[in-house]
Formats: sequence, C-alpha cells, structure tokens
Amino acid sequence: MLQKIFKKAASKHNAKTGTPGKSTNPSKGTVALRQPTQKYTGVLSQHEIQSELKKLEPSTPWAHYYDFGHNLKSVNPSDAVFFKKATGLKTIGEGIVDFTKSFLGRDNLNGLSVLDLACGEAGHSIEFANLGATVMGVEGRDLYVKRSTFAAKAFGFDERCKFLQSDVRTVGKKDIGSFDITLLLGILHHLGENDFWPMLQNFADMTDRLGFIYTHVSEFDSVTNHRLKGPVMADGRFEGYLFQEHREGATEKERLNQVRASLDNTYSFWAREESLLRALKEAGFSAVFKVLAPHPFEYPLSQYRVLYGCLK
Ligand SMILES: C[S@@+](CC[C@H](N)C(=O)[O-])C[C@H]1O[C@@H](n2cnc3c(N)ncnc32)[C@H](O)[C@@H]1O
Repeated sequence: MLQKIFKKAASKHNAKTGTPGKSTNPSKGTVALRQPTQKYTGVLSQHEIQSELKKLEPSTPWAHYYDFGHNLKSVNPSDAVFFKKATGLKTIGEGIVDFTKSFLGRDNLNGLSVLDLACGEAGHSIEFANLGATVMGVEGRDLYVKRSTFAAKAFGFDERCKFLQSDVRTVGKKDIGSFDITLLLGILHHLGENDFWPMLQNFADMTDRLGFIYTHVSEFDSVTNHRLKGPVMADGRFEGYLFQEHREGATEKERLNQVRASLDNTYSFWAREESLLRALKEAGFSAVFKVLAPHPFEYPLSQYRVLYGCLK
C-alpha cells in the first residue's frame, strides 16, 4: 500500500523535475543549529575528569554533550558534525523534561522514577536526574554504560542514577518493575521487525504515567533517503520498511563498534506512522501526541524523525 503511494509520489515529483524513472534530489534537511545550555555543573576535579575520560575509549567520539567544567567537554564545537548531533540530541532531553514538568504542574521531579531504555551516554537520564528524579538507564554497550556511570558521578547524580547493561528486547517489568516516566528514545528504529510489537507492549507495561518515543518512521523521504526495503509487516499487521544497520556478514566486533546502531540485527524496522500509533494504542496507551517543538531537526527531516508523548 505505502509502496504504491511512494511510487505515485515519486513519479509526480519526477514529472515536475523532468527526471524519468528515479527520485531526484531527495531533500535531506539539516539539524537545527543551537547552542547548548547546561543546567547542572560538574563536581569532579580537572585531574579526576581527565583520568576517567582517558579510560573511556577517547578514540570513540561521544554522542551526548556534557560540559564537565575546567574547559572539558564530551564534544567540542570544533568537531562540527558530532557537536551538531550532540546538541541536537540535547534538545530532545531538555524538551521532554520541560514538557514533563508542565504536564505534571511541578517545578521539580523529586520522587519520580524514570526508565531510560537504550540510554546511550545518559544525556536524557541526566536531564531528569538534575530535577530530582531517580533514573534507571538500560544500555546494551559496555562502553556506554561506563560513560553513563561516569557522567552521573561527574555531576553528583550517582545516588539517583543506576545503569544496567542489558538488552532492551529482553528486560521487562518482571525484572525491573514499572516507572512513572519511560523513555524509548532513538532505539525503536534500531530493532528488527519481530521486536517491534513485543518492545511496544513491554514499553507500555513498564510505563505508569507518561512515556516518550523518539523514532524514525517510514515516510516518502525516509524510504528514499535511507534506501529502505519493503514494505514488510511486523506481527502480520503493522506496516513498515527495513533499514540496513550493518553489512551482511559483519562480525560481532564490527557490529559492536557501530556504537549508535543495533547490537546485532542486520536490518531494523521503521514502522509507518499510522501503524506505530495503532500499536501504541493497542499496547495500552490512552492517548498519543506528537511533539512538534522543540525538535532537533528542521523540515523535512522532522517529517520522519518523530517525537511522541504517550499517556497511560
Ligand atoms: C541511536 S542510540 C540512542 C541513544 C539515546 N537513547 C539517545 O536518544 O541518544 C541507540 C542506542 O541503543 C543502544 N542499543 C541498540 N540496541 C540495543 C539493545 N537491543 N539493547 C540495549 N541497547 C541497545 C546502542 O548501544 C545505543 O546506545
């Protein structure tokens, strides 16, 4: 169905641009440029930070932005590409924390529990911890668990942040319980088609009040820009396309070294927005809304990199 729509849209577009047979100049869009603001400050000495950072694979760039103090940052503005990406990601964390405060009508998040699934380097966890929430981050990569643990310590939040090295596809309510706020940011579109529905059920199960999802969906631009394959159906009823995460036959080490990608699956499933919304409602959320601003990406990237809030 979606394929038909895409083909029709592509031929219309090609008729306009005069290029027969293939989609031309797919508009890629950009990350919105923005200076980072950080509402918390480092508590470690320069020596402590430097010696810890040295142990955390400095040759692998950081994806989350931190200013540790003493002029030591996880990503420097001179690394333009990483800096743009890291500060864009920070926009998501700051936005959902602000939204949570407004939604709950509170100035702080003291006493609330937060689950950050596939937390990466804990940029979003730390935003919540800064307002007093107790956070559990689950992350599959050892390096990221270590960086997350260090970041929490560097800002004095280690008492209320715990990081667990585990696979988000297998960890569930029976293991870690449920949480007031849950985050499924930048991970759903890295999981395979067979994990889509179980992951959303699990996510809903672990959410007591409010969940946030940041994910890529299959739209005309994403299918063409990312050469998605499909369509395919997850659980026989949720339509989407497949994105190739790793080359066929990539070794375990190669896969692990792609630090922002899937742990093992070669292909990941990018649902169609309509399918995703249907799945979220079926999984048990009473309402789902789309966050249009603040958003780290400009149009048209923002069309398929979407941020949702989900109410229980
Ligand atoms: C694109 S990053 C997103 C990180 C963070 N949530 C964010 O929004 O910036 C994807 C993260 O998921 C982790 N990851 C991928 N597959 C995973 C899995 N099955 N279980 C746990 N973590 C996983 C990766 O190591 C990486 O940190």
